Amino acid sequence: MQIDIITVLPKILEGPLNQSIVKRAQDSNLVDIHIHDLRDFSQDKHKSVDDYQYGGGAGMVLMVEPIARCIESLSSKKRYDEIIYMSPDGIQLNQGICNKLSLDKNLLILCGHYKGVDERVRENFITMEISIGDYVLSGGELAAAVLADSIIRLIPGVLSDETSALTDSFQDGLLAPPVYTRPSDFKGMKVPPVLLSGNAAEIEKWRHKMAIERTKEKRSDLLD
Ligand code: ADE
Repeated sequence: MQIDIITVLPKILEGPLNQSIVKRAQDSNLVDIHIHDLRDFSQDKHKSVDDYQYGGGAGMVLMVEPIARCIESLSSKKRYDEIIYMSPDGIQLNQGICNKLSLDKNLLILCGHYKGVDERVRENFITMEISIGDYVLSGGELAAAVLADSIIRLIPGVLSDETSALTDSFQDGLLAPPVYTRPSDFKGMKVPPVLLSGNAAEIEKWRHKMAIERTKEKRSDLLD
């Protein structure tokens, strides 16, 4: 998979996308991430990419021209399955969307900033708008990093034990059951004996029961 990300603040993305699982996925060529600085597509001597909004009002708007130039240049080299704009107005990210996007080959993600992007960008170039929750971030970069991470970990071969993504919370519509590691007895607080029993069928049954209980308790909306 190739993920291209367009941003005015490339540095914000460098940290989250160059650590741990996402870094290993890139090192093993399972994903190729390219970060494009929108300012490189400005034709103005100050490299400006934003301007005041027509009609007045506080906040700058990312201009259509540099974004159009950038998207057209990238799209001339490959066909994108989706051109995604990160925005609090978008459809809320969930595991189903991550699963679907993880099957794509080429994704282009545009990070908004300031007051957002000129509406003509959304109308003419964007195929999908994604929000990571009902709150407003200073820009789309952290949201893009969340989206990229949640997709990349689902690409086959990225996680060392492929089944571990399948047992994540939400994959079967339930939260994940509790997990324990050594010691089996911490100051009298014991690990549930079934987990030490070696009986795989009983362990599976217990985990499923706990996943249902946990979902009922914390996220009963998922059971509706
Ligand atoms: N940009 C600003 N806030 C955002 C959010 N909640 N989700 C996605 N992109 C955003």
